[in-house]
Amino acid sequence: MNAPMRSIKIKRPDDWHIHLRDGDYLAASVADASNYFGRALVMPNLVPPIVDVAAARAYKGRIEQHLRKDSCFTPLLTLYLTDETSQDTLVSAKQSGFIHACKLYPAGATTHSEGGVNSIDALFPIFETMEKHAMPLSIHGEVTDDDIDIFDREAVFIDRYLSRIVTRFPALRIVLEHITTRDAVAFISEAGDGVCATVTAHHLLYNRNDMLDGRMKPVYFCLPILKRSTHQQALVEAVTSGNPAFFLGTDSAPHPRQAKENACGCAAGAYTAHAAIELYAEVFDKVDCLDKLEGFASHFGADFYQLPRNQDQIELTEESWQIPALLNFGQDRLVPIRAGEKMRWRVTSGARSSAAAMKDSHLSKPHELPAG
Ligand code: DOR
Ligand code: ZN
Repeated sequence: MNAPMRSIKIKRPDDWHIHLRDGDYLAASVADASNYFGRALVMPNLVPPIVDVAAARAYKGRIEQHLRKDSCFTPLLTLYLTDETSQDTLVSAKQSGFIHACKLYPAGATTHSEGGVNSIDALFPIFETMEKHAMPLSIHGEVTDDDIDIFDREAVFIDRYLSRIVTRFPALRIVLEHITTRDAVAFISEAGDGVCATVTAHHLLYNRNDMLDGRMKPVYFCLPILKRSTHQQALVEAVTSGNPAFFLGTDSAPHPRQAKENACGCAAGAYTAHAAIELYAEVFDKVDCLDKLEGFASHFGADFYQLPRNQDQIELTEESWQIPALLNFGQDRLVPIRAGEKMRWRVTSGARSSAAAMKDSHLSKPHELPAG
């Protein structure tokens, strides 16, 4: 006898860290982000970056142009901190009502971080203002020093910077983004309220063997880089523990195939927004903790950002479906995580793509990978 099909309902989830890019990528990136997420915290690392309220307002408008009239999705904006960010900019960001965090990229740490921060200590007066005005600080937590091994850069950042920031600004709400190590899990678990971390689906599902064993696979190259499996295990334990300090942030980042499969260097970033909650569901299911998915995906992030939890629900059913080999992004093609493979969980209610709107989604127009 066939086992009955399993399904779960959870409150509509939010994505607390996503890259939507701009221009002709927005149609596809916004369609995926808004498919079933209620809100997404949109990263500011455009070219040029979003460094003031006017740029954030204009970007929000461009994103909203791609939302259907009946969409209940809300993009939440962020500001890119630089060596020049002023106190006035921070205050007006807070007053805007649509900027929900300031993002610290150490200069050179990742994609489009060239305009980021060169001296974190010089930014302390800005952190003080953020603390005073209750503006959360979102951190790409990696040092950039050449002499620090790429696999150690997150742990060293915590020791050198994060521990000092947390001590010095006890009321500053901080998110250490896309954590990848057991060092980060330990630090966040022991830090007080208001110091949290996002965790991506790809860092939960994969480790550096998936990327490097046998043949190097560009689809998995992202920053912070995938670590060894013991770190991956620590992340899975953290997100399935029910600890509200860990919540969902995909760090989904669209890069065209030609930028990732490139002999001169592979762009950093993994695209998961086409199947994000389904990928997370696999992680939780594998360790028999599906009951912990809702807190991680739908409660803890909203609580941290002091926003109401979503009201309605989505349903996930254990049902196989196929991810296209390539997705269309403007004129480009993109290889997503799980390209050409099967998914185990599917969103069966509460998603846009479950309705007729699927017609205009790029998921309905797969392009096959050329042979070879
Ligand atoms: O892999 C990454 N890609 N990590 C980041 O921090 C940025 C992102 C991007 O913007 O492509
Ligand atoms: Zn990111």
